[in-house]
Amino acid sequence: MQKGLFITFEGSDGCGKTTQINLLNEYLRAKCRPTLLTREPGSGGLGIKIREILLNFEGEIAPNCESFLFLADRAQHVEYTIKPALKEGKIVLCDRHTDSTLAYQGYGREGDIERIKLLNEIAVNGLKPDLTLVFDIPAETSLKRVGHDKDRMEASGLEFFDRVRNGYLEIAKLEPERVRVIDASDSIENIHKKVVEIVESL
Ligand code: TMP
Repeated sequence: MQKGLFITFEGSDGCGKTTQINLLNEYLRAKCRPTLLTREPGSGGLGIKIREILLNFEGEIAPNCESFLFLADRAQHVEYTIKPALKEGKIVLCDRHTDSTLAYQGYGREGDIERIKLLNEIAVNGLKPDLTLVFDIPAETSLKRVGHDKDRMEASGLEFFDRVRNGYLEIAKLEPERVRVIDASDSIENIHKKVVEIVESL
């Protein structure tokens, strides 16, 4: 049985979730709550190698190969990082998790949603976030914030990011108990307050 709390941060590139996860981590630490701040893809030695391929490989990557690489990173991350931390009673704050694969490889790349859900289940082996925060911004804002220096995923175009955003909103609609949507066009301070309010209520 897990003892800690598992919170995932989700949203399109440029939505500000990394700023918010850092602020929440500082807030919880100041209250002496034990936390683990982590991310997907790219926590630990193997994860960093997988992240490098996913974001910077210059050749074509087949859609299934892309999905499997994100899922491989997740399987490793869940077993060796997330589950042990939860067992120790930590609050695990994870920058992206299963909903990223659904939103990006499912809705964004127009993959088979049900199949991706199944593959996610295999990768996480029984783990599920207690809370997921989706930071919502329009696709145009997302691309503007990312700027000119785009990685392989960020270079996927406006229509792709529109589908990703709608995918997140659809996920939130289907699982309102777990997934909370936050308007990410508000100020950093206001968004942080909202995040704290939701997490404290948990
Ligand atoms: P980051 O920039 O938030 O660290 O995420 C890396 C990129 O990988 C980002 O463009 C989202 C993408 N991604 C997926 O497409 N599928 C996934 O399952 C995950 C975890 C990330």
